[in-house]
Amino acid sequence: AEIHFHEFVVQATPVKRLCSSNNIITVNGQFPGPTLEVRDGDTLVIKVINSARYNVTLHWHGIRQLRTPWADGPEYVTQCPIQPGGSYTYRFTIENQDGTLWWHAHSRWLRATVYGALIIYPKLGVPYPFTKPNKEIPILLGEWWNRDIISVLRQAQFTGAAPNVSDAYTINGQPGDLYKCSSKETAKFFVKFGDKVLLRVINAALNQELFFTVANHMLTVVGNDAAYNKLFTTRVIMLGPGQTTNVLLSADQPAGRYYMATRAYATAQNAPFDNTTATAILEYDSVPCTAKTGLAPRPLLPPLPAFNDTPTVTAFTSQIRSLAMQNGQVPTQIDENLFFTVGLGLINCMPGPRCQGPNNTRFAASMNNVSFVLPRRTSLLQAYYQNIPGIYTTDFPPVPPVIFDYTGNVSRALWQPRKATKLYKLKFGSRVQIVLQDTAIVTTEDHPIHLHGYHFYVVGQGFGNFNPNRDTVRFNLIDPPVRNTINVPVGGWAVIRFVADNPGVWLMHCHIDSHLTWGLAMSLLVENGPGELQSFEAPPPDLPPC
Ligand code: C2O
Repeated sequence: AEIHFHEFVVQATPVKRLCSSNNIITVNGQFPGPTLEVRDGDTLVIKVINSARYNVTLHWHGIRQLRTPWADGPEYVTQCPIQPGGSYTYRFTIENQDGTLWWHAHSRWLRATVYGALIIYPKLGVPYPFTKPNKEIPILLGEWWNRDIISVLRQAQFTGAAPNVSDAYTINGQPGDLYKCSSKETAKFFVKFGDKVLLRVINAALNQELFFTVANHMLTVVGNDAAYNKLFTTRVIMLGPGQTTNVLLSADQPAGRYYMATRAYATAQNAPFDNTTATAILEYDSVPCTAKTGLAPRPLLPPLPAFNDTPTVTAFTSQIRSLAMQNGQVPTQIDENLFFTVGLGLINCMPGPRCQGPNNTRFAASMNNVSFVLPRRTSLLQAYYQNIPGIYTTDFPPVPPVIFDYTGNVSRALWQPRKATKLYKLKFGSRVQIVLQDTAIVTTEDHPIHLHGYHFYVVGQGFGNFNPNRDTVRFNLIDPPVRNTINVPVGGWAVIRFVADNPGVWLMHCHIDSHLTWGLAMSLLVENGPGELQSFEAPPPDLPPC
């Protein structure tokens, strides 16, 4: 195993998109940020130097951080932010994981531009469990705002209204041909006939689930969130923010140029969304030029599903089955049976500039009616480790405080969540099941729920209200998908299972940043186990001061 050292300088960088220049926050001046390439078993040492004028932290999305919770990164959860002029070195080892993950800022909305791919190859000598590709391409889907992202966030926070939607989607940082002033820089990938290409697709968008497809080419899905699946083919994939999907593409079409395209999957009723399409070009090296112009023919634009095409999403996700699983790998006995609602809410306010949500309200969101508030004086992990009182309580409700028809007509009395910093405590080694249930409060909506420090088995999902008598018997305990981010279906539910074998404080949240800002989050506190190998260490000396 190797140790990889990197220096990441967080800085303001002028970047031109959609005809105008914007000073965005980048790592090392790159947008998207640098790609990290490692092998399973390797150690990463990344010194982050903050040369920007905002506080920042970085998160290694999907890395389990076994016994290294101080390196996880969400601000005020596992560390206080790195202040301008400060630095912090993240050190962690990849343990039994390979595939596509990514890294991103975990500080307000800076991840809009501060993100990059984290590619983990199998251990030396271990082959992929599918036809060896002769080319690999990371595909980072993102969103672009013409305005400074912190001002977009502040506007939403000040007014209490929904945030402005993005001005473009991007593929590897570029909106592509269908936007003005963007043609020249469109991302282009060259292939030759017969190539087997592994596309490592990452949804790094801030607030939007996205469809992705390639004209004329079928996609063979081989993995999701750094876990292999049984192969299946599809024309289109859908990723929630935070998710990754690896697909194999055979370059078996007539020489030509083909668009890759991405567009919104938007499920919130009557909510505006960015309805544009970002493209990149897959170009065969022998592409004929038209005799007259000397220009290559226009690429073919693939059909994309309608923005609200949930059946296509269900058809895709229901095919994902884990590749290899040993008997008994999925917990069948459960010690902690939890049920969390995930959904929006509204908080009443006095009419005025700070009260621009619907009918004299501000937007909010919650799990089990608790709208999560980050502490400010210190991080949750430090408060736990140093026994600092008054930062959090451990009374997060294991089930909703009120049982109601979650996806039906919810009484207005249940629309107002309470703001608090509540954790749920788990004994080391406990076998946990969490039912994640969408609600119809304000609107039903697809929520990509991400759990830090773990990957989990998705043993079931469906629409409507979860019904234990009907739904438990249909759970897949044989080859359920393994993920770190699960899309709770719009107006539906998903059930995850895992063993709480990684001590620390782990944020669980909707990966749509507007929902996270509104409070759609909670934290699990997993206590240290009995032995040294089941406990985490003291904080590193350079952990940023609060
Ligand atoms: Cu990818 Cu808490 O985030």
